[in-house]
Amino acid sequence: MRLVLFGPPGAGKGTQASLLVKREGLTQISTGEILRRAIREGTEVGCEARQYMDAGKLVPGKIVRSLAENAIAAVGYDQFILDGYPRTIEQAEWLTEFLERHDAPLTAVISLEVPDEHIVDRLSRRRVNGETGQTYHLDFNPPPDNVDPSHIVQRSDDQPDAIRKRLSVYRAETMPVRQYFEVHGELCKVDGTGELEEVYQRIRRSISRAKAATDTPT
Ligand code: AP5
Repeated sequence: MRLVLFGPPGAGKGTQASLLVKREGLTQISTGEILRRAIREGTEVGCEARQYMDAGKLVPGKIVRSLAENAIAAVGYDQFILDGYPRTIEQAEWLTEFLERHDAPLTAVISLEVPDEHIVDRLSRRRVNGETGQTYHLDFNPPPDNVDPSHIVQRSDDQPDAIRKRLSVYRAETMPVRQYFEVHGELCKVDGTGELEEVYQRIRRSISRAKAATDTPT
């Protein structure tokens, strides 16, 4: 199974991807998380990416493409969920062509549909475990008592100015990717509001429908 989790910043892509990892045994490939790790480790890529990420802008496509390519190759072109990639038409075209070349077309592109008013609340109340990358929400999904509170931090791009910039970048550069996959037939729209488990079950049903459609002889 090869999935893309698509949606605006704060739609719940990372949260739902980690449920799919635990329950379906898929590997999550989050370009945002790979870049944040590079920043923590102080690599050359991390140093270059940091200025873009803190400002809420997209990291140059060439850098992210090579991270995505290496990560997909490392999992053997199967059983993965892409979270945060692709987010431009150029990235979507490259991914389609790259997976075709490896005879590994996408099973589905799950688009988490969440209205703007939820997004700002989700991002401003989000906290992450700086050691593990695990994501929480102060009200809906608080960090458990056994996690050291000193590890719980706010992402630098979850400040109001960066949130506004990320939403405008999403509308200008990433929204067209949704239409791209709609035209290509892989897009599955899923209501991303409600309890985490409800959203997860909707995603599961969409994946089952997409797999059934792919398996149907023509
Ligand atoms: P990335 O890390 O991918 O950030 P994003 O796309 O902005 O998405 P988020 O991680 O903010 O949100 P999410 O949808 O994963 O939501 P989450 O599950 O955390 O990218 C960061 C940056 O890296 C980019 O801005 C860019 O600079 C760079 N980058 C990455 N990929 C790139 C690419 N391909 N090209 C160029 N640059 C790239 O949930 C959010 C909050 O809501 C949490 O608190 C969560 O607990 C809560 N929540 C989740 N579900 C629910 C629910 N159902 N009800 C209530 N709360 C919920």
